Formats: sequence, structure tokens, C-alpha cells
Amino acid sequence: MSASTAATATAADSADPCCAEPLPVLGRDVTVPLVTGGEVTYAALDYAASAPALQRVWDDVAAYAPYYGSVHRGAGYLSQLSTDLFENSRRTVAEFLGCREGDQVVFTRSTTDSLNLLAAALPADCQVFVFETEHHASLLPWRDARVTYLNAPRTPGDAVRNLERALADRDPYGPALVCVTGASNVTGELWPVRELAAAAHAHGARIVLDAAQLAPHHPVDIAELDVDWVAFSGHKLYAPFGSGVLAGRADWLRAAEPYLAGGGASRTVTRRTDGGVDVEWHDTAARHEAGSPNVIGAYSIAAACKALNEAGFEALVAREQQLIQKVREGLAEVPEVRVLSLFGDDAPRVGVISFVVDGWNSSHFAAALSAEYGIGVRDGLFCAHPLVRTLLGSAPDEPGECGAPEAAPGERSLNAIRVSFGAGTPDEHVERFVRAVKELVSDGARWSYRTEDGRCVPDTDSGATAA
Ligand SMILES: Cc1ncc(COP(=O)(O)O)c(C=O)c1O
Repeated sequence: MSASTAATATAADSADPCCAEPLPVLGRDVTVPLVTGGEVTYAALDYAASAPALQRVWDDVAAYAPYYGSVHRGAGYLSQLSTDLFENSRRTVAEFLGCREGDQVVFTRSTTDSLNLLAAALPADCQVFVFETEHHASLLPWRDARVTYLNAPRTPGDAVRNLERALADRDPYGPALVCVTGASNVTGELWPVRELAAAAHAHGARIVLDAAQLAPHHPVDIAELDVDWVAFSGHKLYAPFGSGVLAGRADWLRAAEPYLAGGGASRTVTRRTDGGVDVEWHDTAARHEAGSPNVIGAYSIAAACKALNEAGFEALVAREQQLIQKVREGLAEVPEVRVLSLFGDDAPRVGVISFVVDGWNSSHFAAALSAEYGIGVRDGLFCAHPLVRTLLGSAPDEPGECGAPEAAPGERSLNAIRVSFGAGTPDEHVERFVRAVKELVSDGARWSYRTEDGRCVPDTDSGATAA
């Protein structure tokens, strides 16, 4: 079953109201001040940027912390224990992703790091195929290779056909790689990963899945999706301790120069008689993990994998589908709101929804959600500039840095607002969000805002608006 088919199935399952409770996350009781007075519990609705840590992940990390020690480089008890923990974490992640015999799990810093690692490991003359709709982390690392950028498809079927056409035209003898996202960080829509993998393989190409937004919301099975590699980040998977993962086929990774040269990646280093040094590199995952590994980062990811599985990932997905429905139905009641979508209303999706509001600058709107309702969303182009500009219909040369507003409060918006949520989100947060959107659109902001250092902020000098 492809990621998209699986999501359709789970959306149907969500008719059952029994679904799981939100998982306990850190920060669930944090209160923040409102510009209009008083305090409110913070509604973290920016999971797509970074999700809060699961309480369970935090507890596991705290329980391990006193035993912290160096990995792969110590004779002491705690070093041995930490090394075991690190290697066991690799096995847990491999199981979580359904890795095949021979697949490697490399711990990296993030999805961006994982995809750059793979880009550095491409065989000579590799052709790369990537949709222009990708997050910059998937769009940009391949620029030293022969890259074909595919236009934004308007249906999942178009995506497969566009890819097939491009692959059919390629040099059939050279190596090729397709890079595709599992779930869009802008629209939340699921991409037809299994079908794209089949197309890639039918044309002798390989495929890497950017699962940064998929893995936190949906089980990912590398063998079942038949992708060659998967990349994701700990901080989006409720494990914000600085680690990410690249998992998949070992051959290209083994054949490549180490991503970083240094201790840990080298099996033996010898001095040559001519004065230089010879290095024999590891051919395991350690080849690309030079330096002291981030054992807490790796362990926290493994803890998150276990926590999601034990909580019942399918039930979490079903609950998230209910939240999605609540938000989408709420937004649909506001004619001024336009939800951004590539594949249309019926596309299966995860809890990531971007929109614009007629007559509002998105940065102004996001600032009012924060200051007047204690709701944290994101505004901007979400590090997917070509996609957001396509969806907004703005010209490619119009300004807009990642996260930076380019219009003052009240001016036409060239960026969007994104609300995103997941396993730790209580219903109250999305209900407050929908109510806030309706109030802001009907009544306007209750406070004045100004642009400061590129961000829209409450204007504490002018204060409340007359309205
Ligand atoms: C789809 C997608 N890919 C890659 C990334 C990059 O992730 P990171 O910043 O953790 O490297 C993101 C981050 O938002 C993302 O949404």
C-alpha cells in the first residue's frame, strides 16, 4: 500500500471516534502572555517546523543522562553502555523504518544533513530528478550533479507521468536518483511514493524519500514503499536533540568518500614512507559518522520510534485525521480564507495546512494569532519558495526570504500562514485556532502591529485598536 493509499485508509478509519488521546509532550502547560492582557496556555501549532519533545522521549533521555559516556572510544563501563545504546538505537530505527537486510542506518544531524550526505555519495555522472515543489533541503543538495527539475504536478497521477517522461528521456546507462517528499511541508499532501518508486525502478533509477514531514505523522516502511533511502529529522519526530537519519542501500554509501573525514570513520591510518598518510575507511554506517556521535540524539530518536509504535501509530494517525477535518471544515466556513493545495480537496494529507486570508498580510495574521490568542503558527514561504509561489500565483522574482515578511501589516501578502499539528495536539488547540481565524477575519485585530527587524510585532506604543 502506498503512503497515499495508506492515508486514505486511515482517514476512513477515523470515523471511529474512539481514537487515541494526545500523547503527553513537553510544554503542554506552558502559559504565554497575551498582548491584550492575561495569559493563556501556549497552543504549539508549528509541528512542521519543530515538534515538541514527547514526555516519554524526555524521560528516557533523562534516565540515560547520568550514564552518558563516549561512543566507540572508551574502555570504561559507561562508554561501553553508551556504545551499546547507540548501536541499539540504530537497530530500533531500522525496525521502525522496516529496513531490509543489508540496509544501513546512518545518524546525521537532520534531514538536510542526510540529503547532503547522499548528494555527496552520488556515483559519478549520476542524474538527479527532483520536483520543483520540494523543500529546499531536497531541492538544493544536488546542484553539483546533473539535475532535472520537474514542474509542479497538479495530481498525483501527473507526478508519476511527469517523472516517467523525464526518466524515459534520460541517458539509460548512467546512474540516476529521484528525490521526492512523502508529505509536503506546505500543503501536507501525500505524494504517491510507491508509484514514483516503481517508476524510478522501472527506468533503472533509485529513489530517496524525504520523510521529514511523513515520518512524524505516518508509519514509513522502506521495503513496502520500495524506496532506496529514507531521510528524516529527530526534531520533527518529537526528539529534538540534534540528530537525523539517512537509512537505506549500503552500496553507494560504502563506495563514497566519507562525508566527514576523521576519527570514527577510519578503521586504520598509517604513515607512508613518502610522508603522507593512508587511510582505510569503515564500510559500515560509521564511515559517514566521523567525530564523536550524538548518542543522546540517536537515543532520543529511537525512544520516539518506540513511543509512537507503542502508542499505536494507526490510532494516532486516525486522531490526527479528525483534527485535520476540524481545521479544514472551520477554515472552509470563512470565505476570505484560501487553503493552498496542489492535489485538491480530496487528497490524503497530514496535519500541515497552509492558507492565505484575503485582505491580510500573512505575517500580520500570524502575529495576531500569537499575540492575541497564544497560538504559534508559521508564516513565510516555508523553505519551499518555488512551490509556495506557484500556489500563491506570485512571480518568481518577487521577494520573500524564508520566514521573513516582505509586506508591512495590511499590505498584500506574498507569503502564507501554516498551521501544523500532530500526536501531542489537544483538540482545544485547533478549536482555539479556528475560532481565532474567524474572529480576526470578522472583527479584525484588537491590537496595532508594526514591522521590526523583518518581523511583524505588536506595537506596544500604539496599543489596542479602536475596534
Ligand atoms: C519536507 C521537508 N524536508 C526537509 C526538511 C529539512 O529538515 P531539517 O531542517 O530538519 O533538516 C524540512 C523541514 O522543514 C521539511 O519540511
